[in-house]
Amino acid sequence: MINVTLDGAEHFYSDEEITDARKLASSAMNLVRNGTGKGSEWLGWRRILKSPNDAELERIEQHAAQIRADADIFIVCGIGGSYQGARAIVEALSKPFTSKGPEILFAGHHLGAQYLEQLITYLGQPGSDGDTKSVYLNVISKSGSTLETAIAFRQLRKWMHDTYGDEARKRITATTGEEGGVLNKIIAEEGYKKYIIPEDVGGRFSVLTPVGLLPVAVSGFDIQTLFYGAVAECEARDDDGADLLDYAATRYLLHEKGYAMDVLSSFEPELQQLCGWTQQLLGESEGKEGKGLFPTVASYSTDLHSIGQIIQQGQRNILETVITVARPLSGLELTTMDTDTDQLGYLAGKPIFEINNGALEGTVQAHIDGGVPVVRVELEKLNEQQLGRFIYFYELFTAVYVYMLDVNPFDQPGVEDYKKAMYKLLGKQG
Ligand code: PA5
Repeated sequence: MINVTLDGAEHFYSDEEITDARKLASSAMNLVRNGTGKGSEWLGWRRILKSPNDAELERIEQHAAQIRADADIFIVCGIGGSYQGARAIVEALSKPFTSKGPEILFAGHHLGAQYLEQLITYLGQPGSDGDTKSVYLNVISKSGSTLETAIAFRQLRKWMHDTYGDEARKRITATTGEEGGVLNKIIAEEGYKKYIIPEDVGGRFSVLTPVGLLPVAVSGFDIQTLFYGAVAECEARDDDGADLLDYAATRYLLHEKGYAMDVLSSFEPELQQLCGWTQQLLGESEGKEGKGLFPTVASYSTDLHSIGQIIQQGQRNILETVITVARPLSGLELTTMDTDTDQLGYLAGKPIFEINNGALEGTVQAHIDGGVPVVRVELEKLNEQQLGRFIYFYELFTAVYVYMLDVNPFDQPGVEDYKKAMYKLLGKQG
């Protein structure tokens, strides 16, 4: 199971306070289990794990293998829950500076004109063998109408059709809701391959549907192990949710006490996007009705030399969630040298992960001493199975915690407000 340690937060509340909060967490867990809470029509992220669709997993694997055999580049075009999970998993599992297959690029997650222009220029440049690059595109939008994604998709599919002619149809895959939305009309017109995002699974809870599974499989990672890792965590948490409830109770109590910000930090750069996925999951779920902690991401040691200062000594309303991996990602040791001019001789021969652990433990200690409650969430290893477990762990945690706030975890009414204002300014009809 995903391991939670709360020692670093315990002396920020009393035993009595946590006992009451635990009771509330337990009632919130019952709302999830019984499907009786707000937005319970969106509990499909649990349903898909309780009755896995193995045929679909296999279909995705086969399709991904075909793409991998031919693609130089695979573009994931989506925003929010339609791309963050895939990106988090791919970046967590990829070894830096090495590639297990096609280059994975992202689009449709902003309206940066230069980015899109340069992306298309890059696609058009010959590959290292001098040939035209083989590009595949996966547009992902549950509503099928999100502006950022739709604009990138229009530009990219025009390029695909101009470059590959009729063959573009085989190179473009669309992942969207079963019906409705502009994207479904385009699919019907063009005959693109389609994957369905189940109606009862919301965007940020959809990484274990084709939304995340196709890009992850195209990247060369094992989606069966990822998916069944989540199934295993789901089964384990049905039997024993105690530490998850303690964690939810702790976060709730700190929120009640006026803590305003939750820094999701990691000491491995490979985990930065995973913290980003967790940030989106929590932020879009809890930040409503004037409630919720503001989740933000810090990547250490890098950010110890920027926002580390304000975490250590700024306004005392910050808690921290440190996400770690128990098994080292590399056994690299610090080089031994004949001279000690750089004064690192005391560390020579030491595995760098041990030095990084020293930085981690020192930071956690300093933050707790400085008035920052610290929660630790640990994966045993950085692999598909543990990431599957982590995904379900945080989906369940988010639902339980947000129910404690008496808020619907599964909608995002605030996101609609910016869309309305933007469409009005841009002159959209209807
Ligand atoms: O969690 C959510 O529902 C959102 O983050 C959506 O995923 C995001 O707004 C993208 O929406 P869509 O997939 O409809 O383009």
